[in-house]
Amino acid sequence: MAEVVVRPLARSDDRSDFGCGDIELDRFFQRYAGQNQFRHHIGNTYVAVDGARILGFVTVSPGEITGATVFEHTRKRLPDYPLPILRVSRLAVDHRAQRRGIGKLLLRFAFRLALELRDRFGCVGVVVDAKVTAIPFYTTLGFRPLEAMQGALGDRPEPLPMFLAIRRIIAALE
Ligand SMILES: CC(C)(COP(=O)(O)OP(=O)(O)OC[C@H]1O[C@@H](n2cnc3c(N)ncnc32)[C@H](O)[C@@H]1OP(=O)(O)O)[C@@H](O)C(=O)NCCC(=O)NCCS
Repeated sequence: MAEVVVRPLARSDDRSDFGCGDIELDRFFQRYAGQNQFRHHIGNTYVAVDGARILGFVTVSPGEITGATVFEHTRKRLPDYPLPILRVSRLAVDHRAQRRGIGKLLLRFAFRLALELRDRFGCVGVVVDAKVTAIPFYTTLGFRPLEAMQGALGDRPEPLPMFLAIRRIIAALE
């Protein structure tokens, strides 16, 4: 594998061959990532590329969370109005490139965006909407569930919001 770099999605990127094993994520990337970014401005996608080949992507947007929700994670009593976060709404790696550090590389890129957000507008941490199969991946990177989980993991139809506080992000990048 040549050097893998992370850069913004370009209109000209060929996304048709991407397959991560999750049909919804593949469909999002192939059909909606471009229009969400270039036409609707609801979230930006960054791609990990090896030359012209797309190995993975991460989609982010700024979001909000309440101070009471993050109290357990930050150990700080933050005001109870909405606080700024960076949301990682989607992350996927092509099945041919999984388990080679690309997912981690994309998340580290998102962490640097969170620090930029912190410095320019404020940001208390990163929230991911974790699919049940990806919870162990996020857990190894330090993310913890934002809400108490209801029922067994296997019964969860909805993604689980998980949080990493900004001070831990700085540690993760060092
Ligand atoms: C989840 C996903 C993004 C991980 O990307 P990846 O490139 O395969 O992961 P990495 O190689 O960067 O792994 C980083 C670490 O997480 C661990 N890890 C990766 N996938 C894991 C899994 N499914 N379960 C447990 N640990 C996992 C790795 O062992 C690695 O740890 P290490 O650095 O100590 O060796 C990728 O497998 C994927 O796209 N899956 C399908 C779509 C999906 O579930 N996306 C997430 C939606 S929220």
